[in-house]
Amino acid sequence: MLYIGIDLGTSAVKLLLMDEKGKIRNIVSKEYPLYFPHPGWSEQNPEDWFVQSMEGLKELVPEEEKKNVAGISFGGQMHGLVMLDEQDRVIRPAILWNDGRTAKETDYLNQVVGRDKLSAYTANIAFAGFTAPKILWVKANEPENFARIRKICLPKDYLAYRLSGTFCTDYSDASGMLLLDVKNRRWSQEMLDIVGIREEQLPKLFESYEKVGTLKPDVARELGLPETCIVAAGAGDNAAAAVGTGTVGNGKCNVSLGTSGTLFISSDHFSVDSNNALHSFCHADGRYHLMGCMLSAASCNKWWMDEILKTKDYAGEQKQIAALGENHVFFLPYLMGERSPWNNPNARATFTGITMDTTRADMTQAVLEGVAFAVRDMYEVAKSLGIHLERTGIVGGGAKSPLWRKMIANILNLKVDVPECEEGPSMGGAMLAMVAAGEYATVEDAAAAIVKIRGTEVPDPALVAKYEERYQQFREIYPAMKPVFDRIV
Ligand code: XUL
Repeated sequence: MLYIGIDLGTSAVKLLLMDEKGKIRNIVSKEYPLYFPHPGWSEQNPEDWFVQSMEGLKELVPEEEKKNVAGISFGGQMHGLVMLDEQDRVIRPAILWNDGRTAKETDYLNQVVGRDKLSAYTANIAFAGFTAPKILWVKANEPENFARIRKICLPKDYLAYRLSGTFCTDYSDASGMLLLDVKNRRWSQEMLDIVGIREEQLPKLFESYEKVGTLKPDVARELGLPETCIVAAGAGDNAAAAVGTGTVGNGKCNVSLGTSGTLFISSDHFSVDSNNALHSFCHADGRYHLMGCMLSAASCNKWWMDEILKTKDYAGEQKQIAALGENHVFFLPYLMGERSPWNNPNARATFTGITMDTTRADMTQAVLEGVAFAVRDMYEVAKSLGIHLERTGIVGGGAKSPLWRKMIANILNLKVDVPECEEGPSMGGAMLAMVAAGEYATVEDAAAAIVKIRGTEVPDPALVAKYEERYQQFREIYPAMKPVFDRIV
């Protein structure tokens, strides 16, 4: 049988068609616009997600194979606030995970309600991109929109609703709303009271690998797919990507270099970072994970290449980079503010250490290294919690660069396993659909059968030592700049 994974990303929706043995049959990608209506705001139109996903689905499956599609599931950009009215119309554009408008609401939650209470109710504190502060923002700034809310959901849940008619979410994605009691896998009544919403406005909770329904007859007809095609709840994109790299069960790690950058550590038990710098979320395998998320990762390189250097030849630019571990230029990658570990929407990107002999290649190198150093910042938090790793998987657009993978391996001093397929969230989505359809008994069984590693980047001790010195210099820059960031924003 065939399965479809839909990665509802920030720049595009990526769809992947796979058979039950894990052989990829086709991949299709459809872009949609991202709007920045004010500095630090980030919005998208949910209708664009649906229209482009439908277009992608039509293109993805060859006509003669359509009857064999048994299941669809998702990995979706997390935290985005989608609000529907009584007629299921989208009330306003979705406010995305990298939107920084909620500094006031985040401060209210963390300072007035208090970090201890939030952490006790949800296992997390408030970050600007999380869903609950955005609901408070709408309540304060758009009361007429707030009054119209009948349903609140996350981006991939909107898609699942349009495809299946079931208003659902999954525990991994719901964890990032700051409304879920993560430990007990249920909505937190305390949080609903704080935010001023009712449980009936929220979707029904499922495990990521559970069936929520089948395709609606009109959707099935339009796509030419069977009405029996299962829709499974799916997961937040990081949990789905972790499934797609086999980061399931206990103590495994995955790094994602997408628009955002994440360090994801799977765990078979619930735990909370006492400083809440890492998020404590449910995993798509039915267990838990800790995760750090930086808001701009591969997007830093994309910005540097597309907007500043005005080139599409990313590999050509990287070829000019001569010596690793010796760059005198540093880059702070906070183009959209920063989440982990600083939790500061006012943080900004900077180049530091430029001299008259600095070259274009030095600056490109600094951008790539700055992102890797910031991933190391998140890893340092994990180490402080007693977590020790030897290796990590890697996914996302940035993972396609051998040079960037080498930087990650040597800056983190971890072996980096490169999967055969870097399409983490869509691959994980297809695997979750397989479990829902009964092809595999558990997500771990699916991962053991399907995920293949094509090579490992092994750290070189001499380079690790050079990068250690550079990292110690890098980590002094943000604290020195912080008072400036707070004044200039
Ligand atoms: C995770 C996060 C991002 C988005 C990107 O907390 O905000 O990784 O999920 O799509």
